[in-house]
Amino acid sequence: MGEVDPAFIQATEHRPKLNTIQIEGIPLIDLSVSDTRDLKQLVSEIGNACKKWGFFQVINHGVPLELCTRIKEAAKTFFDRPIEEKMKVKRDEVNAMGYHDSEHTKNVRDWKEVFDFLLEDPTFVPASPEPEDKEIRTLTNQWPENPPEFREVCQEYAREVEKLGYKLLELISLSLGLPANRLSGYFKDHTGMLRLNYYPSCPCPDLALGVGRHKDASALTVLSQDDVGGLQVKRKTDGEWIPVKPIPNAFIINVGDTVQVWSNELYESVEHRVVVNSEKERFSVPCFFFPCHSVMVKPLEELVNEQNPAKYKEYSFGKFFVARNRSDYKKLEVENIQIHKFKISN
Ligand code: OGA
Ligand code: NI
Repeated sequence: MGEVDPAFIQATEHRPKLNTIQIEGIPLIDLSVSDTRDLKQLVSEIGNACKKWGFFQVINHGVPLELCTRIKEAAKTFFDRPIEEKMKVKRDEVNAMGYHDSEHTKNVRDWKEVFDFLLEDPTFVPASPEPEDKEIRTLTNQWPENPPEFREVCQEYAREVEKLGYKLLELISLSLGLPANRLSGYFKDHTGMLRLNYYPSCPCPDLALGVGRHKDASALTVLSQDDVGGLQVKRKTDGEWIPVKPIPNAFIINVGDTVQVWSNELYESVEHRVVVNSEKERFSVPCFFFPCHSVMVKPLEELVNEQNPAKYKEYSFGKFFVARNRSDYKKLEVENIQIHKFKISN
C-alpha cells in the first residue's frame, strides 16, 4: 500500500486532527474482586462506563499477557509474508474468513490489512439477507502455512478471550439488573469471530484512516492493542474524537449494536475509528461476540414497560449480519444496513 490511491481519501469532515491533546479518557476498570471492592461495586463501574462512554478498558482480566504478545508476533510474521502467500488464504465470496487488504468502511477504503477467523469452526449463517430465503451457509476457517505456529496461537488466544467475553456479558447483564446468565443462551452456536488488524505506516495520515468511523454490530467487542495507539472514540457528550491510550496488558471493551437493542438504548453502541501513523505500523486484535444467527434481537422484555416502550422492532441477527457484511468486498453506492432501520418511531 505504498502510494496513495484516491480510494483511501476521506471526505474533509472525516479527516483526523493529528495533534489532539490527551484529555479525559475512557474508564479503566479492574476486574478483580477483593475484600475492599465487592462485585456490586464492579458491576456499578461497568454499568456507568457502558452508559457514559460505551467503551472502557479492563485489567486483571485473566488472559495471560504472554498470549497477547504471541498473537501480535504471529500477526506481524504473517502480514510480513509476500502478498502472493497471503493471497492463498484470501477472503472472498466463497471463503468468508481469511486475509483481506481492501476493506471499506462507509465506502472509503481502510488503510489496513486483516485476517479473520471464526471462534467456532464451522459456523452457520443465512445464505442470503432475503427474509424468505431459509438456506443456511456453512462458514469455515482457512489457515496460512506460515508462520507454522500461527493457527495454534490464534486458537489458544481465542479460547482465553472467549472466557473473558462471557465474564463481561455476565457483568453487563448484572449491571442491567438482570440475572448474570440472562444473555448466555443467545451465544449457543454463536457466530463470533476474531480479527487480526495490521495498520501499515501511512504517508498521508491526515487524509486516510485505518478504519473509518463505524459502530460494531457485535454484542460486545474485546480488543487487545499494541503500544502505538490510534483508536479514537466519539465522546457522547460533545461528539469529540477521544484517543484511547494504550495501557500495557489491558483490553479495550465496547458494547456493540446488539447490546444497544437488548438494553433498549440504555447502553449505546458508540462510533469509533482508527487514525494511522506516518512512522509506525500498528497491530490490534478485536474479538467480536456475535449471537447465534437464529436469535431474534429485540429489547429485553424485563427492560421495557408502558413508560419505557421498546425502541426497536425485532430482527433476525443472522439476516442483519449477512446484509451488513455485503459491503466488505465492494464499494457500494449506499450505506450498509444499520440498526436504525429497525427503530420504532414514537
Ligand atoms: C474494528 C475496530 C479498532 C482498532 O476492527 O472494528 O474498531 O483499534 N478496530 O483496531
Ligand atoms: Ni470497531
